[in-house]
Amino acid sequence: MAATRVGVMRRIIVVAAVCAFALAATPAAAIVGGKPAQPGQFSYVANISIAGSFGCTGSLIAPRWVLTAGHCGSLTGALSQGLLPTPIAWPPPFYGVQLGSVRADGQGAERHSVIEVRVDSDYLLTNGTGNDVTLLELDTPSQIAPVKIAAVGERRIWEPGALATIAGFGTTAENASGPPSQMQVAQVPITTDDYCASAYPSGLSTIADDGSFDPQTMLCAGYPQGGTDTCQGDSGGPLLTPAANGELRLVAATSFGAGCAQAGKPGVYARLAEGPIRRFIAGVAPDAFVPEPGATAPPSGTTPRLKPKPKPKRHRTVKGHTRRHRPRRR
Ligand code: ARG
Repeated sequence: MAATRVGVMRRIIVVAAVCAFALAATPAAAIVGGKPAQPGQFSYVANISIAGSFGCTGSLIAPRWVLTAGHCGSLTGALSQGLLPTPIAWPPPFYGVQLGSVRADGQGAERHSVIEVRVDSDYLLTNGTGNDVTLLELDTPSQIAPVKIAAVGERRIWEPGALATIAGFGTTAENASGPPSQMQVAQVPITTDDYCASAYPSGLSTIADDGSFDPQTMLCAGYPQGGTDTCQGDSGGPLLTPAANGELRLVAATSFGAGCAQAGKPGVYARLAEGPIRRFIAGVAPDAFVPEPGATAPPSGTTPRLKPKPKPKRHRTVKGHTRRHRPRRR
């Protein structure tokens, strides 16, 4: 039985590799309407190559972990590519990660190989294009300061209207022939969930638009008139908003959109700081989160607590029990 599974895996790998080459040959679209990042800025933004060519953007969220998109990790690919989203990952040796350089050629970058690929366990066909997150474990800890994922208690920093910073190595136009020579950065406002749900309804248009909106695992950003957006190759890259102390927090990661920078079609981003994706990340890289405001201990949502912390339980008395983390499966 093991032998058959290996055979099937091999066939999947071959098919996926052929698909990847075919996709690599199609014109790619980086951030549209942005400007080049200044050297030394956004050191934690990763340039990720897959099977030898530029593939995706990512963020260093802990010394050993880079977060990128689910469809950048899933060997079976994205639904929008006519492929099957599954958590079966590309083998680690297919990846190259560059940090600390704004240049596409990686000059001066800290270079890494990858030793483990963890696609979100809910990045599944049955889940549409939701949970679009992969975590890449680096060969050695990075010397670069990671960007922290926002605390749940900082929720107001990703409310609709908040001006977010997006960054990536992707294309600067929908029909660009290749990515630019330098990382691009731009700002876009976060939209309401209702607006995004009407821009990306479920149903047949899902395929043309790359997916439909799921408020549990996605948020959207963009101007109603378009013009500024992430684009092909920016996938997995950061959407950041400033915390109360001015520090930028990682709030979401580039996922999909209809074309790039089109009016009425905001960019769709994986919602990292709350909900199911936060729980997935917490299980793998619990140190990726900024501590909850006012907390003295590590952030909640980290699954295994090694030291059981004696907590004053006074607030429990009203209902007798707490149900804060009731798992919700779709
Ligand atoms: N799926 C694209 C990628 O793999 C990201 C597209 C983002 N599109 C957009 N309109 N915001 O790089």
